[in-house]
Amino acid sequence: MLDEGKSREELVDELKELKAILKSNQESTKKIIENERILSKTALELVDLPPHVDIYDFIAKKLGDLIENSLIAVSMYDEPSDSILVRSVIGENQRLIELSQKIMGGGLTDIKLPLRSFYEFYDDKEHQKNTILSGKLLKMEDGLYQVFAGRLPQKITRMVELTMNMGDMYGTGFESKGKLYGTVYIFLKKGNKLNNNELVQSLISLFAVAIQRKQAENEIKKALKEKELLLKEIHHRVKNNLMIISSLLNLQSAHIKDEGARNVFRESQNRAKSMAMIHERLYRSTDLKNIDFGEYIRSLTTDLYRTLVADPDRIRLDIDVEDVKIDINTVVPLGLIVNELVTNCMKHAFPDGETGYIKLELYQKSQKIVLKVIDNGIGFPEDLDYKKTSSLGLQLVNNLTKQIDGEFELDRNQGTSFALIFEEKE
Ligand SMILES: Nc1ncnc2c1ncn2[C@@H]1O[C@H](COP(=O)(O)OP(=O)(O)OP(=O)(O)O)[C@@H](O)[C@H]1O
Ligand SMILES: [Mg+2]
Repeated sequence: MLDEGKSREELVDELKELKAILKSNQESTKKIIENERILSKTALELVDLPPHVDIYDFIAKKLGDLIENSLIAVSMYDEPSDSILVRSVIGENQRLIELSQKIMGGGLTDIKLPLRSFYEFYDDKEHQKNTILSGKLLKMEDGLYQVFAGRLPQKITRMVELTMNMGDMYGTGFESKGKLYGTVYIFLKKGNKLNNNELVQSLISLFAVAIQRKQAENEIKKALKEKELLLKEIHHRVKNNLMIISSLLNLQSAHIKDEGARNVFRESQNRAKSMAMIHERLYRSTDLKNIDFGEYIRSLTTDLYRTLVADPDRIRLDIDVEDVKIDINTVVPLGLIVNELVTNCMKHAFPDGETGYIKLELYQKSQKIVLKVIDNGIGFPEDLDYKKTSSLGLQLVNNLTKQIDGEFELDRNQGTSFALIFEEKE
């Protein structure tokens, strides 16, 4: 310290020393800030990692960019086989690939080492703490021989080291919360030093957490996929059951003499069939959240047309539907509504052999989806309130419209035009 009674030279020396300390402090602060910057940038990149980018490739590339003159090998831990599998290598060259082929009969990414071999290699208790599986960056004093956990003869590992001009080697495991997710090895070319150990170690901890997250994410995706398959399976069965009911009604109606009663049976049969078709769409659709409703309407309406309209020249069918995507919760009620409205046109609009057309429209207008069933027939009875009928068909339509929070409107200007307006909810 600056004591009184020191000579001028002594004071100058001390000042120089202080300056040097200050400078080195500044440098290390700069380095810390730079390291922080790299860490947070990498962390952000990991959060936004596109699904097609392999996380092991990403890790190898990041480390390769950071550590000059190095070869980086990143492996994953495969739990079922309890092995370490090399997944990504950065900095390899033709020579190394040839050597790998010669020695192991495969490329570097074919290398597979049982986890057991690492524990066996460090058989004494003291060393076990220092294995690469500890998550701490460890210098491999025994070089490649140690990397392969003694699985290759030392003579061969030495030869590879010399041929490839390999110097210092480091290794560690990706470890998070006591679980191993993989390993990474850093091979430096002779004469190079690993001078940013701390940053490398911090990055490796970050990567371990990222791999853990990625695996959890994949498991959730897998579980979701399974759930969707199960749901489709159920729709398939429901569809089959409804088809059975439909044919049952068909068989029974054959024994009914009275035409009116037979028609009731036929309509029930059609209702069961329409529902079956919805479930058929559901198990065929790739995305249960988004079902192509336009396509469904097309097939349902032509199907009804074939059963209900004996003479296609008398009633024309005009289908103008956009491919609107509809959620699974809306699609079932909507299918039944279409069934009722279209059946009504075919049944009531053209009595006594009259001719005309039936038109179906489906389109999206900003947030709203509009479904229109139009005919140019005799028109809806003046004395009937379409929102309060004693008959089942329109009652069903009104109830189902409420269920999907839609609006149901009638336009009697020309023939009958029913419009259903609803919104898809999140
Ligand atoms: N497109 C239409 N053109 C003319 N009249 C119609 C039309 N749609 C419905 N109606 C009239 O509205 C009445 C009520 O229809 P609704 O569908 O509720 O009953 P339904 O078709 O008679 O029997 P169901 O209950 O089997 O459907 C019909 O009986 C018919 O008179
Ligand atoms: Mg009806």
